[in-house]
Amino acid sequence: MAIPNLQVALDHSNTAEAVAAAVSVGNEIDIVEAGTVLMLEVGSEVVQILRKLFPDKPIVADTKCADAGTTIARNCKNQGADIMTCICAAEVATMTSAAKEIDHIQVELYGDWTYEQAQEWLDNGIEQVVYHQSRDALLAGVTWGEKDLEKVQKLIDMGFKVSVTGGLNLETIELFKGVDVYTFIAGRAITEAENPAAAAKELKDKIKELWA
Ligand code: 5RP
Repeated sequence: MAIPNLQVALDHSNTAEAVAAAVSVGNEIDIVEAGTVLMLEVGSEVVQILRKLFPDKPIVADTKCADAGTTIARNCKNQGADIMTCICAAEVATMTSAAKEIDHIQVELYGDWTYEQAQEWLDNGIEQVVYHQSRDALLAGVTWGEKDLEKVQKLIDMGFKVSVTGGLNLETIELFKGVDVYTFIAGRAITEAENPAAAAKELKDKIKELWA
């Protein structure tokens, strides 16, 4: 089983803070994400800055695209992104048209989705999903648990590369020990820590320890 990647989600509301955070944690993480909050606030041009800062790391544009897949994917690719996200409620046509323009599409799993839909994504060449506990659901009291592990495992068994995200920290990552997670995506646990680089290193070390 491979050691899962660590992806930092930059969900700042301005470019300067996002870039400062990215620079401080860049050595500790595998994948850089321009978060939805950041992209909605400052636009996809921030991806271009991240690309220049990290020429050798995969860059994710977390657009959660619901429509106009071709245009949005082309714009993200032109800015330097390798990966773009589509919301699970999007039409398969949106996902596949986006997939023609950018290296990888990841389907963001929120709310209601079915394994039948997931199979359709696979059948159409979409092989990456992000299993997501929504920030708002977590704030409303939802917690990570067995139900999530079962769904993540089932998606892996179907053949997906599964990223996991939503309020992750050292404890929640531990729940996934033994599960072939592709990437853990952490935002606030890193960017809002007193020492973001140290927090990222701690998460990465924990992942290495658990998956060694
Ligand atoms: C919100 C997101 C976040 O980027 C992702 O959930 C990681 O952030 P955090 O670890 O702070 O929850 O996609 O929609």
